[in-house]
Amino acid sequence: MEPSIYKYPAIFRRVHMEKPAEIGAEADFMREVWRRHLKRPVRRVLDVACGDSPHGIALARAGITVAGIDRSLTMIAAGRKAAGAAPIRFYRRSIGRFQLPERAFDAAFFMSETFPIMTGNQALLSHLVSVGRLLRRGGLYCVDIDRHDGVEVVTARRLWRKRRVLAAGTRVDVREYHRPIAWSSGLHSIYELECTIHFPAGPVVTRDIVPVRYTLPSLLELAARASGYFAMVACYADLSFTRPIEKCYGRWLGVLRRV
Ligand SMILES: C[S@@+](CC[C@H](N)C(=O)[O-])C[C@H]1O[C@@H](n2cnc3c(N)ncnc32)[C@H](O)[C@@H]1O
Repeated sequence: MEPSIYKYPAIFRRVHMEKPAEIGAEADFMREVWRRHLKRPVRRVLDVACGDSPHGIALARAGITVAGIDRSLTMIAAGRKAAGAAPIRFYRRSIGRFQLPERAFDAAFFMSETFPIMTGNQALLSHLVSVGRLLRRGGLYCVDIDRHDGVEVVTARRLWRKRRVLAAGTRVDVREYHRPIAWSSGLHSIYELECTIHFPAGPVVTRDIVPVRYTLPSLLELAARASGYFAMVACYADLSFTRPIEKCYGRWLGVLRRV
């Protein structure tokens, strides 16, 4: 089987077209959300699907205690190395259902638009229950979701985009495909990411097949309530406190409060 792009932590961020500077802006925005919606200091934070936890490391360096969960050992190893002495602990867990040997957190977050990979109702609810059990009452869960719009439903696997990027000094040919979905699935698309990484010792091909649920603020609000652990308190477009959600360009942040 071809490996996942997450086997290559130094490369995946460039492939996803994310810029390192975005991390600081996202962490700052979250801290402002906490100031507005949580009337007590945030001392302990959970980073969900943390990868190498760039947000967690930034917060830990600012004195917040962070725990991160991810299923990829390679990403976790990269995070541990990058964190150095910063107060952050990593756990290998699946986001669908998990527990941690940790005291309750003041806040949790799920960044990088990965939340919609939980496509089934059961996975979505057991995820929210898992996070809810780890949060103090009144604690906040910030969920970052890309704007789902304009994806063509295909009946056969089809090339969507191809591009070439330079990541950590290595050329990567990226091909993105859309795959067919069943009408009844509630999915937005099945996204396939193929990367050919041209290492000096020879090329390596990675492949990730990612079903994506069509996730709107109304679905997040419903799932939050249905979990019995959360209520949605706000929804912000494009890291802005003033842009209306209808004018969202790229992504939105749902803010859930632990009830
Ligand atoms: C796009 S990366 C984001 C990482 C990090 N939050 C960031 O902003 O850089 C998505 C992460 O989700 C993790 N992931 C995907 N599916 C997962 C699952 N079912 N359980 C746990 N982690 C998962 C991957 O291993 C990867 O590290």
